[in-house]
Amino acid sequence: MQQRKATAIAHPNIAFIKYWGNRDDELRLPANPSLSMNLGDLVTTTTVAFDETLERDEVVIDGQPAEQAARVRVSAHLDLIRQRAGLRSAARVVSRNNFPVGAGIASSASGFAALTVTACAAAGLDLTERELSALARRGSGSASRSVPGGYTEWLMGRGNASSFARSVAPAGHWDLRDVVVVVSREHKAVGSSRGHGMAVSSPLHATRVAVVPAILDVCTRALLARDLAAMGALIEQDAVMMHAVMMTSRPPLYYWTPETMAVIQAVQIWRADGVPVYFTIDAGPNVHLICEAANAAEVEARARALPGVLDILVSGPGGPARLVEEHLF
Ligand code: PMV
Repeated sequence: MQQRKATAIAHPNIAFIKYWGNRDDELRLPANPSLSMNLGDLVTTTTVAFDETLERDEVVIDGQPAEQAARVRVSAHLDLIRQRAGLRSAARVVSRNNFPVGAGIASSASGFAALTVTACAAAGLDLTERELSALARRGSGSASRSVPGGYTEWLMGRGNASSFARSVAPAGHWDLRDVVVVVSREHKAVGSSRGHGMAVSSPLHATRVAVVPAILDVCTRALLARDLAAMGALIEQDAVMMHAVMMTSRPPLYYWTPETMAVIQAVQIWRADGVPVYFTIDAGPNVHLICEAANAAEVEARARALPGVLDILVSGPGGPARLVEEHLF
């Protein structure tokens, strides 16, 4: 088998219907299906080279050697790929994000999607999009959704091979914007991997898991019909349901700050003013405002005027994780 160097790019994604909780932590099989949009303006670029002269995997992220925990997680993921390819060499991994870490954008989704596509190519593995998505899922659940392009749905599946994401509409289907309102740059105290494990301790988790598939179906239909009002009501409801699960877990997880609530209340006022915009919130205090491209400048200007807003990032929909020619080293 030919060993070589490869580079891929991937985009992070914003979930409209959230992934929260696993039914199998080891395999990262989700408790519920989820739906998201890739964020095309935000890009992770990753180069991987398997090199027999290396003693152990080397991982550099945004110009810095990765911290121990991140390196171990990347190595564990590379082990899955080495196993599949019958390869023993350690690898040099260099990854770069064009968006600031700590801005509330999960770089683990684009990071593990890019790593999977790159490392498989470098290892000489020729996998289908489904196989790549299922494999990316093992690194970070939401990474499964960054492998296919545009608007994607991650199926629960029955086991490892059938829990992958597929595109429900290409990026060009609808020119939506995610206006990310950054109200905190602090590193979150409880990361999502630990948070997923805590979901079952909430008495609300079982209810959310039971109702999400039906909500996701209606939300997907609204997405296909480009009906923002119908979709927006559902994405707000699901984001708040997920946070209700978080807040009622033991111990409780409170990701919201007063600034988070202030943005939510502002969105309700803006809608009453006739600006069609809806919010969603991941495992952190920052708020993602979803609107059509035509209203993005208005939404951004209004958000900038709110107290406590540190930064705003804006992204449209994006394509799949894919190999590129240019290498980072
Ligand atoms: O892929 P993870 O383990 O980082 O989990 C992502 C969890 C949320 O961002 C809160 C929701 C989602 O579906 O992206």
